[in-house]
Amino acid sequence: MAQDDVFKKIVSHCKEYGFVFPSSDIYDGLAAVYDYGQNGVELKNNIKQYWWQSMVLLHSNIVGIDAAIFMHPTVWKASGHVDAFNDPLIDNKDSKKRYRADNLIEDQIAKYDEKIDKEVAKAKKRFGDAFDEEKFRQTNPRVLEHVAKRDALHERYTKAMQGPDLAELKQIILDEGIVDPISGTKNWTDVRQFNLMFSTEMGSLSDATSKIYLRPETAQGIFVNFANIQRTTRRKLPFGVCQVGKAFRNEITPGNFTFRTREFEQMELEFFCEPGTDLDWFQYWRGFCINWLKSLGMKDEEMRARDHSPEELCFYSKGTTDIEFLFPFGWGELWGIADRTDYDLTQHQNVSGQDMTYFDPEKNEKYIPYVIEPSLGADRVVLAFLCSAYDEEVLDAEKNDVRTVMHFHPALAPVKIGVLPLSKKLNEGAEKVFAELSKKYNCEFDDRGNIGKRYRRQDEIGTPYCITYDFDSETDGAVTVRDRDTMEQERIKIEDLDAYFADKFTF
Ligand code: GAP
Repeated sequence: MAQDDVFKKIVSHCKEYGFVFPSSDIYDGLAAVYDYGQNGVELKNNIKQYWWQSMVLLHSNIVGIDAAIFMHPTVWKASGHVDAFNDPLIDNKDSKKRYRADNLIEDQIAKYDEKIDKEVAKAKKRFGDAFDEEKFRQTNPRVLEHVAKRDALHERYTKAMQGPDLAELKQIILDEGIVDPISGTKNWTDVRQFNLMFSTEMGSLSDATSKIYLRPETAQGIFVNFANIQRTTRRKLPFGVCQVGKAFRNEITPGNFTFRTREFEQMELEFFCEPGTDLDWFQYWRGFCINWLKSLGMKDEEMRARDHSPEELCFYSKGTTDIEFLFPFGWGELWGIADRTDYDLTQHQNVSGQDMTYFDPEKNEKYIPYVIEPSLGADRVVLAFLCSAYDEEVLDAEKNDVRTVMHFHPALAPVKIGVLPLSKKLNEGAEKVFAELSKKYNCEFDDRGNIGKRYRRQDEIGTPYCITYDFDSETDGAVTVRDRDTMEQERIKIEDLDAYFADKFTF
């Protein structure tokens, strides 16, 4: 099945089974804004809870906070967001559509790569086993021509982005003959900078002093509280501070369902350490994040760690790695791990005039700590686990019997156990089982329709276990437990269910 179709199916599955709904659906939705339904919120909460547990509870030197979304506007001046959190925008005068100029040029660079790959694929087909790809790439005139054009464009683009030089970005678009995909014309406006922060007014006065921003990252809530937290926890370096919360960005090109939205949630850790130890901690957190995703069932072939090239790095960063997931629409960033150096604390010290240094008792000296920041998008990781879990299993090709099943890690599954009485006459006994298990697990009671259909309904939301209470249960005090993935069934005494499930939903 084409990957586009797979993604469409996942999006419609999310709506059909209560994972994600378009926001304000009865008013035709609001572009790129989504609500989590009854199963989506459980999935998201499970992910956030596991993240918090892995970071805060399992690290004795990490604590958590919950800062307000509204912050003093000077925070964003000091952090650089007022002046530098911009995307270069260009409009097409015919289609009236707005684009990121950098994205248009990056797509053009990718087109040269596609042309090179096409030449290679053609030659491979022609020469078969005798084909020497490396030699072909180094000597074929057409390939060399595309490589030269791509490299020249890349160099020109990278230079234009430093600054950035907006006139040069437009000139590149014109020189490359880039057309609007909708109107097909080159009728472009000038390139302008567009700040991604949403702003609003606080209180009843709407003058410049009352303008405040919706935070574009949760990190700054941690930096401005650094001194408070250090003083009240009396932690020595290295130590970390976590936060989970909403962030807002007026993205020009949101899209791919919940992958890029204007309102989203972040799970961020700011790990403060002594300068000079930062690169070791960077490597530690890089490895930790990869293992965290694997522990929840993400497969090696679905993810990769992409280190930023020196040109890609933010001006304050010494190193950045993106952990990417292979979505049906291609590779996309899930988790950014950055060495932010002492940039943020230094900026806040300079602008606020407050002391942001740490006194190192071993060295008997004061310094501003360095920071390693693993920043994970909650909505993106939910989407990644939805895509990873979605499966259509052909049970009987002749009868066209296909089972749609969400293979979530049991700890992430929204509903852990489905309790299904074989007949409504058995509801009383089944309800007792449900009431007992509900004290510990999110369970669903379903007595509607035939048992096969009920199993399928639970598979569709990814419930790892179903319990069937049948007529024998009344006399033998046992139930049938069905495993979602293997579909195998076993008979378990009701009194043993607690012990049976004890280790089934752990991380
Ligand atoms: N404090 C660092 C920071 O905010 P970022 O790379 O801009 O860095 C971190 O964002 C993570 O937040 C990303 O890796 C992604 O998972 C998530 N994220 C960023 N923008 C997003 C958007 N518009 N929609 C959904 N998630 C987003």
